[in-house]
Amino acid sequence: MTYNIKLRRFEYEDAQALADFCNDEDLQRYLLLCRLPYTVDDAHAFIKYAKDCQKSGGEQCFAITLDDNVIGCISYTIQSGCHCNSASVGYYISKEYWHNGIMPIAVKNLLEIIFQNSAINRVFAEIFAENTPSARVLEKCGFVREGYLRKGVSKDGIMHDAILYALVR
Ligand SMILES: CC(C)(COP(=O)(O)OP(=O)(O)OC[C@H]1O[C@@H](n2cnc3c(N)ncnc32)[C@H](O)[C@@H]1OP(=O)(O)O)[C@@H](O)C(=O)NCCC(=O)NCCS
Repeated sequence: MTYNIKLRRFEYEDAQALADFCNDEDLQRYLLLCRLPYTVDDAHAFIKYAKDCQKSGGEQCFAITLDDNVIGCISYTIQSGCHCNSASVGYYISKEYWHNGIMPIAVKNLLEIIFQNSAINRVFAEIFAENTPSARVLEKCGFVREGYLRKGVSKDGIMHDAILYALVR
């Protein structure tokens, strides 16, 4: 099946859709910056953050749309100092759409945006070691597993092992 997946910047009108699918324990399990319950106000604050970052050059956030409906989020962050040719990526989509091959399409779209608009030559992701679905997404997009980071991420005060994936052009 072919999906009509596009990336675009967030608008405040997306807050309700974002709140609907982000208010989900399963979706948030391996995300660092979310909260439960996740309200429309939280979504609104996130969209303001995304708009501010777009201007400041911070995390660049995009809505993932399916047939023009917002079903997820994907972002990249250009690193600083001697890592300024690297960008990290992060992403999530509504549980309703998991396991349809949608996120690999979104990641490939994001890679095009990154490589067209910047001098970035390395894109990486650090994922919770137990997040096999996310590892599969990265592998399908050509990322290579580079390392195992013991106690590499902390969520809610608990340390978790992480895996580093990267793609180099
Ligand atoms: C991780 C995530 C982005 C994957 O997106 P997706 O569009 O479902 O990706 P895919 O359809 O390519 O599936 C990837 C893998 O997910 C797993 N998976 C997803 N849904 C599944 C389901 N219902 N049952 C079993 N496996 C499932 C499979 O391992 C699959 O790999 P496979 O295609 O080789 O079988 C999505 O599950 C998600 O948003 N999760 C919550 C947020 C998150 O963890 N983000 C990543 C933080 S680093």
